[in-house]
Amino acid sequence: MAGSLPRGPNILITGTPGTGKTTLAQEVAQRTNLKYINIGEVAKENDLYDGFDAEYQCPIMDEDRVIDELEDTMVDGGNIVDYHGCEFFPERWFHLVVVLRTDTALLYNRLEKRGYHSKKLEDNVQCEIFRTILDEALESYKTNIVEELPSNTPEEMEENIEKITAWLNQWNAT
Ligand SMILES: Nc1ncnc2c1ncn2[C@@H]1O[C@H](COP(=O)(O)OP(=O)(O)OP(=O)(O)O)[C@@H](O)[C@H]1O
Ligand SMILES: [Mg+2]
Repeated sequence: MAGSLPRGPNILITGTPGTGKTTLAQEVAQRTNLKYINIGEVAKENDLYDGFDAEYQCPIMDEDRVIDELEDTMVDGGNIVDYHGCEFFPERWFHLVVVLRTDTALLYNRLEKRGYHSKKLEDNVQCEIFRTILDEALESYKTNIVEELPSNTPEEMEENIEKITAWLNQWNAT
């Protein structure tokens, strides 16, 4: 059954871990009336897991239950959602899908600073090199709502905040 269409704008901020999704999305939420939603935190707070990933030593998120949990909020609209994946959300939820991109060397340093090592570090850097999330976004949403934005420097972060708030103003004006 097709679900309801959102009554207001919803933005997805996606990209490889470390590209700056949380920093960007929280800043946009602070400057606008959008509600910030971190998918990882929603899963954690509501214990929406299904099994354990032995390789990565972390619980596996139950995507269907995460969707059920957020459906009403997303139909209300006015959300900015932060997650390092994008293909399992209902396509109808989002009106703008931002994919953050970071140069390999910079991303490597950011993840290393976080204490990521060997496999986790390499897998994430490879995910960025292979533009995995960008391709996932282009396959999951209409290409005209997918926006690839660079996230290498604080200046680019600021430009991205401005682009997204401008998009929102445009939406609210029509
Ligand atoms: N455009 C940028 N310029 C400089 N530093 C940045 C930029 N974006 C993010 N950072 C820095 O990189 C680190 C990772 O950022 P952040 O936690 O926002 O990434 P994330 O995409 O939410 O990662 P995860 O998917 O693991 O949650 C932080 O220390 C942040 O300050
Ligand atoms: Mg984050």
